Amino acid sequence: MKKLHIKTYGCQMNAYDSAKMADLLAPLGYAATDAAEDADMVILNTCHIREKAAEKVYSELGKLRTLKNRKAQDGNRMWLAVAGCVAQAEGEEIVRRQPAVDLVVGPQSYHRLPEMIARAEREQGRALETDFPALEKFDSIPAPRGSGVSAFLTVQEGCDKFCTFCVVPYTRGAEHSRAPDAVLAEARTLVAKGAREIVLLGQNVNAYEGGGWNMAKLCAALAGIEGLARIRYTTSHPRDMDDDLIAAHRDNPKLMPYLHLPVQSGSDAMLEAMNRQHKADDYRRLVERIRAARPDIAMTSDFIVGFPGESDADFEATLQLVRDVGYATAFSFKYSRRPGTPASTLRKQIPEDVKAARLDALQKLLLSQQYDFDDSRIGQVLPVLFERAARQDGQVMGRTPYLQPVHVTAQGALLGTVADVRIERRTANSLHGVLA
Ligand code: 5AD
Ligand code: SF4
Repeated sequence: MKKLHIKTYGCQMNAYDSAKMADLLAPLGYAATDAAEDADMVILNTCHIREKAAEKVYSELGKLRTLKNRKAQDGNRMWLAVAGCVAQAEGEEIVRRQPAVDLVVGPQSYHRLPEMIARAEREQGRALETDFPALEKFDSIPAPRGSGVSAFLTVQEGCDKFCTFCVVPYTRGAEHSRAPDAVLAEARTLVAKGAREIVLLGQNVNAYEGGGWNMAKLCAALAGIEGLARIRYTTSHPRDMDDDLIAAHRDNPKLMPYLHLPVQSGSDAMLEAMNRQHKADDYRRLVERIRAARPDIAMTSDFIVGFPGESDADFEATLQLVRDVGYATAFSFKYSRRPGTPASTLRKQIPEDVKAARLDALQKLLLSQQYDFDDSRIGQVLPVLFERAARQDGQVMGRTPYLQPVHVTAQGALLGTVADVRIERRTANSLHGVLA
């Protein structure tokens, strides 16, 4: 048996892709290991979204080269592979900066890993693949070999929106959706292997249009799978939130009341400069319509502070939008200049200290909203899907419909089931409750 270590950076789609790469390499005799030191192959599945994420790759590769050389002295070959969005964006640069790398493979071509390994072995060299044969990839990835209680399932990839700050349209390519029958088949396999919740993934997942089906129709079909308790999807663009999907949040009981709907900024000037193609009030009205269909829905978002040209007033408009909407939780980032994107060449870049101060203020507000949202559940009885044993002995961890983690003292037999929990208190990162 050979050992495979995959280190995953970035988004949930990378987590999904990492699992698929493991499935693809299993027939070659590779079994997963948590320790890079034991591995015959190490894959870094990388993220290019912000500068920090991308730079991490090179420092990690430096460490791995040392490990590779040490192993070579003992007569063991360790393969070093870089996958994901940095591979796609900087393939040539990676092998130039780090010659110890054997394989470079983009997110749309990793299904070719087995043949790339064979080729590199045959030619005693390295292999590099950064094509975009997206549909071929979905046809070639194997059925899942196992599943946790909550499973990711990629249904849509790529992006045609071209927000001016974002690398995704360049690293993941154009929007495309998987055919509904392929999605349903994978979902049934996951449920047969133990999944009770499926999280549908896509860069613009609510733009899903496989075989003429929209997201609402796909969710309706998935709801028909016996044994599947919960459906979630992420991440969505405000412009793709259609009436059918809003209605599904009212009508489809398996669709969870949780929506990640990134807005990025509350300033119309910034939204325009970001090419988001809607105004702040459009977003406010959209949230109202969603809440009319599903009043208790947990709203979440992504925000960028310090986009080029962002004034104090623009930033204040973001804080105001946050106050108006009221989020259950949200992610926020300092604008990071990405090579090749239109915003990277804008002149009025914002100084680092201003970005840091704005991020701090925004995160304080978001955290206080998160605590308010969590506290408002105390005393309620909520259905919790139990996912795994907690770190603390005798406890299990599950999630409410609103995706809040809940810790309960209970038997492991609860794992994979939904049970009612009375929420009793909140700590910094989790709710605590008792079985009702
Ligand atoms: N700088 C900072 N944050 C970014 N994001 C995307 N590109 C950048 C960038 N250049 C954030 C957006 C997006 C999330 C996935 O990452 O908020 O929604
Ligand atoms: Fe990036 Fe915008 Fe596409 Fe989201 S919608 S992936 S932020 S370009």
